[in-house]
Amino acid sequence: MILRNKKKGLLAGKRALSSQKRPKVLKPLRARQLIRRFHVLLKYKSQLTKKLEKIWKCNIESDPAKYIKERNHRLFELFEQARLHTIETLLVNKSPPETVINTDSLQLDEICQELGRIEGEIEKRGGLEVYQAASVQGQSSQRGGDSSKKLVEWLKELGYNKKNAVALEIGCLNSRNLISTCGLFSKVVKIDLHSQEPEILEQDLMERPLPKSAAEQFDLISCSLVVNFVPYPHLRGQMMRRIIHFLKPYSQKPYLFFVLPLPCVINSRYFDEDRLSELMGALGFECIRHHKSQKLAYYLYQWERMVSDKLKFPKKELHKGTKRNNFCIIMS
Ligand SMILES: C[S@@+](CC[C@H](N)C(=O)[O-])C[C@H]1O[C@@H](n2cnc3c(N)ncnc32)[C@H](O)[C@@H]1O
Repeated sequence: MILRNKKKGLLAGKRALSSQKRPKVLKPLRARQLIRRFHVLLKYKSQLTKKLEKIWKCNIESDPAKYIKERNHRLFELFEQARLHTIETLLVNKSPPETVINTDSLQLDEICQELGRIEGEIEKRGGLEVYQAASVQGQSSQRGGDSSKKLVEWLKELGYNKKNAVALEIGCLNSRNLISTCGLFSKVVKIDLHSQEPEILEQDLMERPLPKSAAEQFDLISCSLVVNFVPYPHLRGQMMRRIIHFLKPYSQKPYLFFVLPLPCVINSRYFDEDRLSELMGALGFECIRHHKSQKLAYYLYQWERMVSDKLKFPKKELHKGTKRNNFCIIMS
């Protein structure tokens, strides 16, 4: 049974009734497997949606089902059949259906069916809530705690003691992360697409009203493992641009704490640390601290300069190799 929520942007989409239950605690291996499977599904969904956008010459963003339904009843039926079939199959058989890796030759019918299958599997696995629960567990079991530990370590090193400093944590999974408990901020606003606690506001940054005054801006924004979660490179670029509006004026040198999975900067065909520095430099940021762990790349930036609204940052092939990923951030 499906509930369609009324939310917009990245919050849009379907939710299975079963996914509304509180996710159970997962074993570390199971959590890692789930995170990996969600990454495959989200990436595949993004490839197929892009193909659909090309065919229909429109911007679908995160809710292909809605567009298919609006455009073509027959295709939506194919989508629904595939979705329901996948849910039923997974109920009796634990292994996921084959994921078509090469999407080049798929026709419109097949694209809609594949999208239905992905939607079905995401729902059956409990939706984004379960992915988040697995990520929360990942925070503790895989990398020894939340990433804001690094942030707080750096801020202490820098002697950060701004009076009444306020911070925004985008993509917050836990209201007791060190950023909220370290005492360096008088207030930490915490937002996430799917809030798991009353202290976390359920909000898409892309829909958060822009500040009308400095009182609604922040001295520090934490954006840890969020940009890689955004499915499309151009939306990632839009997110980077939007973040700036929520920072205090650059004359006050506000901070941005930014974390990406390591493969985004060491193993992408279209992105690496030099490209990241170019992008951040173009946005007016200066990197003042960076660190790589086995899995993550951490950066602390200070915002120093105004940015042109017309800033462009295209996709460029930087490294060849079939084993590389396609992570990139685009501004057009
Ligand atoms: C992989 S989790 C990372 C969470 C945590 N910050 C960390 O470092 O472990 C990514 C989170 O970002 C959230 N997210 C993605 N896009 C977002 C957006 N546009 N606005 C708010 N939250 C977003 C997702 O809901 C998800 O919970």
